[in-house]
Amino acid sequence: ISLLPYNTFGIDKKAKYFAQVFSENDIKSAIKEAKRLNLPLIPLGGGSNILLTKDLDAFVLKIEIRGIKVLEENEEDLIVEVGAGENWHNFVLHCIEKNWSGVENLSLIPGTVGASPMQNIGAYGVEIKEVFQRLTAINRETLKEKIFSWEECRFGYRESVFKNELKDQFIICRVVFKLKKKPEFQVEYGTIKETLLEMGIKDLTLKHISDAIIHIRQSKLPDPKVIGNAGSFFKNPTISQSSFDRLKREYPNIPGFPNQEGVKVPAAWLIEQTGWKGKTFGKIGVHKNQPLVLVNYGGGEGEEIKLLSQKIQESVKVKFGIDLHPEVNFL
Ligand code: EPU
Repeated sequence: ISLLPYNTFGIDKKAKYFAQVFSENDIKSAIKEAKRLNLPLIPLGGGSNILLTKDLDAFVLKIEIRGIKVLEENEEDLIVEVGAGENWHNFVLHCIEKNWSGVENLSLIPGTVGASPMQNIGAYGVEIKEVFQRLTAINRETLKEKIFSWEECRFGYRESVFKNELKDQFIICRVVFKLKKKPEFQVEYGTIKETLLEMGIKDLTLKHISDAIIHIRQSKLPDPKVIGNAGSFFKNPTISQSSFDRLKREYPNIPGFPNQEGVKVPAAWLIEQTGWKGKTFGKIGVHKNQPLVLVNYGGGEGEEIKLLSQKIQESVKVKFGIDLHPEVNFL
């Protein structure tokens, strides 16, 4: 079966076996089946963070577990459990409709709820680790269900235990979030405030924040339904304060955001400075408004995009001495 409809990069590669799974039991059966076939099992959410570079000699599982269920609530907050297969943005819209606060800044992020803790999705000043409570996942070896607490997930910037120590060992089934009933608006990041002003907003609501973020994203990021892409291709690198100071003398305009480990430098800026922004090569290229996003205009190959990403890494390394690391997973 072609995976074209199942990856936002719009790459036409095949999977040997493919199944949609709607429950924990479905997943367990699929794990057994993959073992019997002696094929690696590859779970897919929205396919919005992968780059297919070849046909997959594998059993691909499309996780479709649904449901949004309030488990507990009081006057201030509520605990809500969400099926891994729910579309992330639909969940965000549901929260806004119910006036539950916490995820509005994460509007319009492609992908599913189950994939969100994998890489601790984040945007516009919020990461899901701030609203995450726990998750349930199936151990691929023992088929047992395990609850992971916040600590056990070991969240970092676009990182969790599921991308590192426990890579390929668990399949996430349900995620539990803690949201607030009294909105706490987060408008400090980037141009959110300006955008709200331009929109003529006076009495702020969750919907307004969401609309502003949707507006900002749509003005910069390509819609994967129109142009294939997987959002940011690289992570923003953090370099030491001394390396940053050295670069600052040579490039006085270099942006930097101090954090615990050093200074985070926008990869978009580094890529723009090396001249890649907006460049097109046949059917693929570097997006014109956000160079951190590589695009497939239609019919491009994953292998070509991978090569392009390596060239970008080289340029950035040569000019700035900085290593860029992909955020996207190569399959
Ligand atoms: N910049 C440039 N040139 C550009 C665009 C940006 O130099 O063409 C520089 C500017 O200095 C700007 C800075 O990059 O201030 C930051 O840009 P932006 O706010 O667009 O965010 P980003 O750091 O490039 C990150 C996330 C995005 C997320 C945005 C908004 C990563 C890898 N990416 O991008 O997440 O939407 O912040 O919060 O952290 C994703 O992960 O797929 C993703 C899209």
